[in-house]
Amino acid sequence: MKTILITGGAGFIGSHVVRLFVNKYPDYQIVNLDKLTYAGNLNNLIDVENKPNYEFVKGDIVDGEFIQKLFTEKKFDGVIHLAAESHVDRSISNPTEFVFTNVIGTVNLLNAAKTIWKDNFEGKKFYHISTDEVYGSLGDEGMFTEETKYDPHSPYSASKASSDHFVRAYLDTFGVPTVISNCSNNYGSFQFPEKLIPLFIHNIKNNKPLPVYGKGENVRDWLWVVDHARAIDVIFHQGKVGETYNIGGFNEWTNIALIKLMCRKMDEKLGRQTGESEKLISYVKDRAGHDLRYAIDATKIKRELGWEPSLQFEEGIEKTIDWYLENTDWLENVTSGDYQKYYEQQYVKR
Ligand code: NAD
Ligand code: DAU
Repeated sequence: MKTILITGGAGFIGSHVVRLFVNKYPDYQIVNLDKLTYAGNLNNLIDVENKPNYEFVKGDIVDGEFIQKLFTEKKFDGVIHLAAESHVDRSISNPTEFVFTNVIGTVNLLNAAKTIWKDNFEGKKFYHISTDEVYGSLGDEGMFTEETKYDPHSPYSASKASSDHFVRAYLDTFGVPTVISNCSNNYGSFQFPEKLIPLFIHNIKNNKPLPVYGKGENVRDWLWVVDHARAIDVIFHQGKVGETYNIGGFNEWTNIALIKLMCRKMDEKLGRQTGESEKLISYVKDRAGHDLRYAIDATKIKRELGWEPSLQFEEGIEKTIDWYLENTDWLENVTSGDYQKYYEQQYVKR
């Protein structure tokens, strides 16, 4: 029986990873550590919460003493670290929070792993989940490979880049067996509706303006979240210590093309006339430091570990829209309370 710590398991990607591991590995004890910030929601995990190999611990990775105690008590064999502040716009309005959670939180976990594993690293793994945003922004050509130089532009990506450097430093300096993956934009169920796809589905449904930053020409490479969780499984089990793996969907869209696709699909689903939802598009002030284009070259993970995306985007976006339209309770629940204040500050005064 192995005990695996998953941090940030109540968030968007983390909840898909927890679900996959709890169901696929009954011999693992899965401990989900999450602070339950605005982005963490235990309703994301109702289907696994009573399984005998699952345990939830509420706690903050910024609290180093608590983290040391937890590691001493649970004697984790492996760590999959997803907990983070993850929204670029929030990092622009409150950068310091991102340094605490993303940098100091990661170092606290590395310190605790180093202490309990006490130089006996056999069979142990510390897996850090990172983002393609650490590589900066591309022009019209090229893709990010594992060798691309780091060039973060937002406080979010700078904090993730910093945490990646600490992870590599703990391998080089102390021998902690680490592995990192850098993934492109995820989409799918249980994503907090501050991010483009769930926000726009929510607004289209409610006939609210669709705030497109700048001219909508920025490009993102979209991957179905379940495929990211599958990649995390493969890397956790087969990824080589010291390596970095890029994960992506080979699926680039300009924001405006993606938004128009969502509008068309939702016109059909909501029984609206073609073109009706597009009228909600509203061009607003651009995001500060807005990266133009991300594109991941995911050939290494395919070549070395045999992973590739399972779902085509047309099918994935269809499933995703259906999920948000069917799960209105989930959406209403997360968009009540503090979310309203965030929305006011971010958009209404823009
Ligand atoms: P999310 O914001 O949906 O979830 C983050 C989770 O971390 C939440 O459950 C939150 O409660 C928890 N958390 C935050 N601060 C914490 C703290 N101090 N202590 C303990 N828990 C804390 O994020 P996500 O989109 O699921 O992203 C998960 C990870 O994947 C992040 O590390 C992010 O950088 C990375 N990533 C995300 C994407 C994407 O498209 N969403 C792509 C690539 C990489
Ligand atoms: O690339 C991976 C990253 O993808 C992750 O590391 C981040 O955690 C995740 O949030 C995501 O970052 P982005 O900034 O790319 O995602 P977001 O959904 O915020 O925005 C996608 C694009 O849409 C981006 O170009 C900004 C634009 N946008 C976003 C919002 C919220 C708008 O035009 N209007 C909006 O209201």
